[in-house]
Amino acid sequence: MGVIDLGNASYVYMKYSKSGNRGFEGSSNRSSIIFQVKHRVVFSMASALPVKQVTEEGQQRLTGDSFIRPHLKKLSPYQPILPFEVLSTRLGREPEDIIKLDANENPYGPPPEVLEALGTMKFPYIYPDPESRRLRAALADDSGLESDYILAGCGADELIDLIMRCVLDPGDKIVDCPPTFTMYEFDANVNGAAVIKVPRNFDFSLNVERISEVVEMEKPKCIFLTSPNNPDGSIISDEVLLKILSLPILVVLDEAYIEFSGLESRMKWVKRHENLIVLRTFSKRAGLAGLRVGYGAFPSSIVEYLWRAKQPYNVSVAAEVAACAALQNPTYLENVKNALVREKGRLYKLLKGVPFLNPFPSYSNFILCEVTSGRDAKMLKEDLAKMGVMIRHYNNKELRGYVRVSVGKPEHTDVLMECLGRLS
Ligand SMILES: Cc1ncc(COP(=O)(O)O)c(C=O)c1O
Repeated sequence: MGVIDLGNASYVYMKYSKSGNRGFEGSSNRSSIIFQVKHRVVFSMASALPVKQVTEEGQQRLTGDSFIRPHLKKLSPYQPILPFEVLSTRLGREPEDIIKLDANENPYGPPPEVLEALGTMKFPYIYPDPESRRLRAALADDSGLESDYILAGCGADELIDLIMRCVLDPGDKIVDCPPTFTMYEFDANVNGAAVIKVPRNFDFSLNVERISEVVEMEKPKCIFLTSPNNPDGSIISDEVLLKILSLPILVVLDEAYIEFSGLESRMKWVKRHENLIVLRTFSKRAGLAGLRVGYGAFPSSIVEYLWRAKQPYNVSVAAEVAACAALQNPTYLENVKNALVREKGRLYKLLKGVPFLNPFPSYSNFILCEVTSGRDAKMLKEDLAKMGVMIRHYNNKELRGYVRVSVGKPEHTDVLMECLGRLS
């Protein structure tokens, strides 16, 4: 297959010559493509519109989705949580009157330095540093791992996808251990990979024996592990992690919530383990979910390929400015984390007292609860939403009848408990 360099062409004009050969002509407007069949222009298209093609043999319709890769047609859309403004309209409440405990966001937001830095940002009209040098230097100070091992992204989400794009050929396999963060499965599907599921044990611990068997039998390329795990908040011990690292598989350890666990990050382990990647984020620790900044620690032998494959400007100027400013106030980050960990303890005790909830102990800023006593988890979520309190409910195979409550400020817990009391 050849490559046609259209770098300088802003208008592409595709036509069939009388001999049936196809060629490119012209140059003036980037957004339209005109196809000619035997000198007859049969359609022009804008990217998102269905396409009609008429051939000399007769009428034939070709719609836009005929261009879509077949495996993507089977993809079910990711179900993100609703943004504040949409929720506000739906619930008929001001955004400020909605208590959002459904996406593990940090309700304290970032340190004040962040808003100040964003307000005085000097060069928003210049493309950002493709290497996010300032941020990576600050992250090296923060983590104790040299910046050469660190790559930043548009949220940890982008890095999950980037890793898959670098590692997986269509048809390759990944191991996923549900219940867990659903983006691993989603991105694997987008990347044309097969997902081998090794469900967690009853107590949400990893089924290491089964993982080992699957690695031997199916030869998957990588496994996604999460510590603390979303949605139950359990952690992975050194012993278990080392056992999995000893297998011939790339281990992506997602530490999006590590700050709340009281445990040290495994970022530095990437110097010792060629098959380990560790992902982290500013979304939770620094209240920057809306600005999209994540980062990862990678072995040197892997990171160079991610540099080659990533979008050059994946971390915006605003995101880098905000993340650097957040790291300048470690005391704020520590205080906010402590407040959330304290509040989690209080929330857990209170949820234990609710007759129709069975909460699970969590090392993170959320608590998973089984909805018991014949109550319906979806209805519980909807009833709370009507009262302006958003929680997450699950309806998948592993977690039917469960809800997850993010830890908020003490006043959020108070309102949640009052609402749960009204539903008792
Ligand atoms: C386990 C886990 N990893 C990654 C993310 C996404 O992080 P980011 O906001 O940096 O994309 C989340 C978000 O909820 C998460 O739960």
